Amino acid sequence: MKFKILLLNGPNLDMLGIREASIYGTDTLETIVKDFKAYATERDVEVRDFQSNSEGALVDAIHDAYKWADGIVFNAGAYTHYSIALRDAIAAVKLPVVEVHLSNVHAREKFRHKSVIAPVCLGVCVGFGRWSYFAGLQALIWNLESKDKK
Ligand code: DQA
Repeated sequence: MKFKILLLNGPNLDMLGIREASIYGTDTLETIVKDFKAYATERDVEVRDFQSNSEGALVDAIHDAYKWADGIVFNAGAYTHYSIALRDAIAAVKLPVVEVHLSNVHAREKFRHKSVIAPVCLGVCVGFGRWSYFAGLQALIWNLESKDKK
């Protein structure tokens, strides 16, 4: 495998399929993760995935990724908008992180327009539903490949 990636999902994303389907669609997280892994395998990328509703567990997962991962695709859910702890964890490990969101957070409530993690992320991919994850992974692969050539 060319690269190892952590697919990280934050609070309430375990409720996809049930939760506000008009905003988030009807796919379950399990389906998205399964398809994400298939997409990654086709590109010679290994994926480990983790979901938690707890901020501390997400911080721990980011710290752990420092030991084995080349990068992270991260949907931090609502923590995106206010978790300085997650922001600091990303800054600490210095791994390339792509922030993803299913919904277009900028077209929603004002409190969702701000991301405290975006400044320490490689880039952000929002509003494409499940495809935000795939686009985020592809962008991360291109970034890692460009570094490989240097
Ligand atoms: C979300 C957007 C967040 O604002 C929200 O709190 C979520 C889901 C998304 O994927 O669109 O939990 O991250």
